[in-house]
Amino acid sequence: MTVTTAPTARYRKDYKAPSFSIDTVDLHFYLDDTCTRVVNTMQVQKRDDEPDLVLDGEQLQLVQVTLDDRLLVAEQDYKVGRKSLTIYNVPAQFSLTIENTINPSANTALEGLYKSAGVFCSQCEAEGFRRITYFLDRPDVLSVYTTTLYVANKEEYPHLLSNGNKVDTGTTAEGLSWVRWHDPYPKPSYLFAVVAGDFDLLEDTYTTAEGRQVLLQFFVDKGNLNKAYFAMEALKNSMRWDEQRFGLSYDLDIYMVVAVDFFNMGAMENKGLNVFNSKFVLADEASATDQDFINVEAVIGHEYFHNWTGNRITCRDWFQLSLKEGLTVFREQEFSADQGMRAVNRIQDVRIMRTHQFEEDAGPMAHAIRPDIVVEMNNFYTVTIYNKGAEVVRMLHTLLGEQTFQAGMRRYIADNDGKAATCNDFLQAMEQASGRNLNQFKRWYSQAGTPEISVQTDYSRRQRKLTVTISQASDKPANAPFHIPIQVELLSQQGEPLHPPELPVNSVLELTEPEQTFTFTGLKEAPVFAPLANFSAPVKCNDTRSLDELITITRFAQDAFLRWDAVQQLYSQAVHEAIAQGGALTLPNALIDGLKASLTDGNSDPALVALLLQIPSEEGVAAEFKYVPVSAIHRAITELHEALARGLYTELLQAWDMHWPQATDKQAAFSKEAIAARMLCNTCLGYLAAMTDSEAVHERLQRQFAAEQSMTLVFGALQAAVHNQHRLAEVQLAQFANRWQHDPLVMDKWLAVQATVRHASSIAKVHELTEHSAFDWSNPNRVYALLASFSHNFAQLHQADGAGYALLVSAIKRLNTANPQVASRLLSPLLNWRRFNDARQGLLQQVLSDLRNMPDLAPDLFEKIEQSLR
Ligand code: TRP
Ligand code: ZN
Repeated sequence: MTVTTAPTARYRKDYKAPSFSIDTVDLHFYLDDTCTRVVNTMQVQKRDDEPDLVLDGEQLQLVQVTLDDRLLVAEQDYKVGRKSLTIYNVPAQFSLTIENTINPSANTALEGLYKSAGVFCSQCEAEGFRRITYFLDRPDVLSVYTTTLYVANKEEYPHLLSNGNKVDTGTTAEGLSWVRWHDPYPKPSYLFAVVAGDFDLLEDTYTTAEGRQVLLQFFVDKGNLNKAYFAMEALKNSMRWDEQRFGLSYDLDIYMVVAVDFFNMGAMENKGLNVFNSKFVLADEASATDQDFINVEAVIGHEYFHNWTGNRITCRDWFQLSLKEGLTVFREQEFSADQGMRAVNRIQDVRIMRTHQFEEDAGPMAHAIRPDIVVEMNNFYTVTIYNKGAEVVRMLHTLLGEQTFQAGMRRYIADNDGKAATCNDFLQAMEQASGRNLNQFKRWYSQAGTPEISVQTDYSRRQRKLTVTISQASDKPANAPFHIPIQVELLSQQGEPLHPPELPVNSVLELTEPEQTFTFTGLKEAPVFAPLANFSAPVKCNDTRSLDELITITRFAQDAFLRWDAVQQLYSQAVHEAIAQGGALTLPNALIDGLKASLTDGNSDPALVALLLQIPSEEGVAAEFKYVPVSAIHRAITELHEALARGLYTELLQAWDMHWPQATDKQAAFSKEAIAARMLCNTCLGYLAAMTDSEAVHERLQRQFAAEQSMTLVFGALQAAVHNQHRLAEVQLAQFANRWQHDPLVMDKWLAVQATVRHASSIAKVHELTEHSAFDWSNPNRVYALLASFSHNFAQLHQADGAGYALLVSAIKRLNTANPQVASRLLSPLLNWRRFNDARQGLLQQVLSDLRNMPDLAPDLFEKIEQSLR
């Protein structure tokens, strides 16, 4: 029997500064598929009176250790542990050379140095550097790196890359070719990277605001150069934007981006050498959707913005991860918004928060954006740290305003550049720049959970006065009240914006108490009070507004989010009523009339109309329940979809016809208008395909599917047909596979669309597709496309007989040792078993304890299962 020692937890409160600094690192990599030799020479200095140096290291074969030219003796001078190397009684200052070997080909976890698809590539964040060499693998140890890469066969690896500037190349006496890199900026080990491979290279230059020229290089799979132009433009846009909006310029002479096919996450901001999942670099109109292009731009921006928020100022410890990620997501969101679709972006970001982050916050892995306890760091790259972290930064921005916020940023950078900082350092800079006390605001960093605000209004005609009482409650009973910025709109019954004297110019009310009253005077009639404009805080809003008020907001609110959200509330009310009564779903006539008007009105932004028509997902509705009625939700969502398809049939057809010319206009291919038109055509078709007997729909499905030049349209048609189980689905799936079988990134869409059919057949389908040649267990993109997509197919995952669980669990078991990071991501939807009925609770507990009993259970899975079953 294997005895698995339980992985140990680490606590934020236990932070201790490192006992040693490592000022320089000189690395030599003798690259080999199965036995790469690493020679690592470090200049080390003692910082306190600790006698022994303890370095991190995992899965390394130690060859030898030399201290100041003396070859050390095992057991006498040092000890090799399972995850460490301890060197006894070291002097105050010394040079240490460690030689070890690693096996990149056997590295299927894609953490450390790995070889896949003919490319050597590294991923060090968060704690992967210790799989390359022994080191103080923690973000508060900053060193200057020099890296030399040696290969036997230069033709096989014409590009040998690492951080910083290329300083020298040559050939050894033994005939090895080498390239040396030097990065002048001290950095933590998680930002280190090496890449070796054969690529096509796209080059350009960028001239910084100060007039310095930067060489920009994209390394992509052979034959894919034409798919890298968009990413290059996005990079230049990012560089320009960061100068204009944040006053921040790039700091090296070269910026490299490598696109790789095997990657656990989106991309990685290694200093001067970003490594990207190829799906966030490669895009052309025939193979990538508009959303893919938008994602490429966002991720390119995100990694670029890390150069200041992450690299120049890094994190003191991993509990501070949101310091770089929350802030960088905020910057990325602002960049995307400034590219022109601010309202659309904001609504999409809110959807992510509500369906995924609120869910995480309500489950067993709930954590504050600055967590206090971590077992496996890889489990904390979460929607809470990233997206809620960005919402917290956004709240500061809302409270302070752009100018003061930017002053705070300048202060933050002036005080912390070149250092490893904490979330408190960031808050302190914001306090100093604004003169505001953020003590209560800081609770957003330490308290998990989603606050819920309740709003009550009382109008006195005699006093012409509106009294608004807002209270806050938390789903975590121990939480103290939050400081919540609530941006509001006041509208007259006719929809005119009102601005009573008590409403601050920025329209932001600040809720700091458990309950607070705000009064507004000079109001001739009862106004409509609309809180949480622009989703000004990541909270739930318990609203008791009348249908009439909601309709007024949908028609007249200035803020697009408020208009959208009012429609969402109307959908949500209808769904909840249908579930409560177990009867048929009914929609208010005023809602249907409003949607008809929007669809046929040539003046409203088609992108926003498309979003208005987007109904909540099953997962989104489930997040609103304490105990989740799975099949009732499924039925209600199906009815809502069909009710809209039937009720709006004529207008949906009309809107599709109206926007089709713009959607297919070659000249305007990637304009905002064309993107918006395609969004609406896809949305319309997504409903229309439910009308399976309509010839008019059949014809348009075919026409749109044939729009070969636009993947947005082709895939929109395919998705409409497949998700509605239209009779065209099978034919289109076959044609699509035939056309795209050579392109795995496109085939991922084909896998995902089938895994997300809201029908019981999807389980068998997914099972069957794991055997398809388009699928590959060793590639995270394939696993996410098929299995992670399925894991969000809510009612199918939670099938009463447990078939959905069995499917997912067998995948998790299979990936546990091969790639624990990926396995762990698949596990999350199974953790919240307490929210289901008895039968499902039992099934889920059973599969979780089965997993827990697995030999060699990865710490990633262990942590989540323990939390869940506790
Ligand atoms: N820092 C990366 C980002 O957000 C995240 C990342 C990329 C990552 N690859 C990873 C985190 C692997 C953990 C493991 O931009
Ligand atoms: Zn990031």
